[in-house]
Amino acid sequence: MPMPSSTSAVAARGPRPASLRHAPTRGKRGLPEELMPRIITIANQKGGVGKTTTAVNLAASLAAAERRTLLIDVDPQGNAGSALGIPRDDAEPSVYEVLLDGVPLAEVVKRTELKFLDLAPASRHLVGAELELAGEEGREQRLARAVAAVAAEYEYVLIDCPPSLGLLTLNGLVAAQGVIIPIQCEYFALEGLADVLRTIDLVKGAANPRLQVDGIVLTMHAANNLAQQVEDEIRKHFKKEVFKTVIPRNVRLSESPSHGKPILLYDVSSKGCQSYLELAREVVRRVDRAGRAA
Ligand SMILES: Nc1ncnc2c1ncn2[C@@H]1O[C@H](COP(=O)(O)OP(=O)(O)O)[C@@H](O)[C@H]1O
Ligand SMILES: [Mg+2]
Repeated sequence: MPMPSSTSAVAARGPRPASLRHAPTRGKRGLPEELMPRIITIANQKGGVGKTTTAVNLAASLAAAERRTLLIDVDPQGNAGSALGIPRDDAEPSVYEVLLDGVPLAEVVKRTELKFLDLAPASRHLVGAELELAGEEGREQRLARAVAAVAAEYEYVLIDCPPSLGLLTLNGLVAAQGVIIPIQCEYFALEGLADVLRTIDLVKGAANPRLQVDGIVLTMHAANNLAQQVEDEIRKHFKKEVFKTVIPRNVRLSESPSHGKPILLYDVSSKGCQSYLELAREVVRRVDRAGRAA
């Protein structure tokens, strides 16, 4: 079967984006570097590619390894919260108040069923945040400032972004040291990837020079010929970036959010769970190699 031409679209577009050239710069936020958490934003402006599933289950896997982890939900839909058994409550202070009113993150953070995992919940009000933030000073730095104030509390901070490259995702990219980009192993897999990489380059060139791509994670791999071809094609173009661990299409992963549980607490023996545990080990290895605060 011939490869869909769209999967080659990115490679055909010329030189490697600067976002894929690792030149780590040191970030100083008043904490000794070994105490800085690794801040990772999960971004891709395509919807339904596995951002939230990856954010939730990677965060849970890191927490299971006793790494103090904070998951920040920046998507107005609040799926990350409900997947952890914390349904969106629009009456409670949320990431919206953090971004718009300067409420400290610590005041909105909630404990989860996992001892080492906390959640900063989203609310519906975030829908308007893109517009409301637009006229504000330092609008892209709001989340970065808020995260800096809780940096000593966590080893990992994960940020789950909405399916757009607007101000909310931009706040996620400015706050982070690394980006993980989930890609669904399907036709048109690489469609839009160039846009994410371009946005990362823009952020790197302006507000956040230390930002780097921590990796591309292949999700919903269906164990058929097409998925395998898509995987091969992506690995060919992004050899270094693609994580070895592939997340299979797994029904237990799609069921667990409706039970309000990360896969670890729903079906630990499932392939989906085992693959996210393996991904967490790979992320930790990469991050440790790059230096926690790189
Ligand atoms: N590996 C997987 N296997 C099966 N279903 C998955 C898998 N990853 C995600 N899903 C399901 O696909 C849908 C979209 O995933 P989600 O993580 O919400 O994507 P995004 O946050 O990028 O919009 C959800 O219903 C989710 O449960
Ligand atoms: Mg999502």
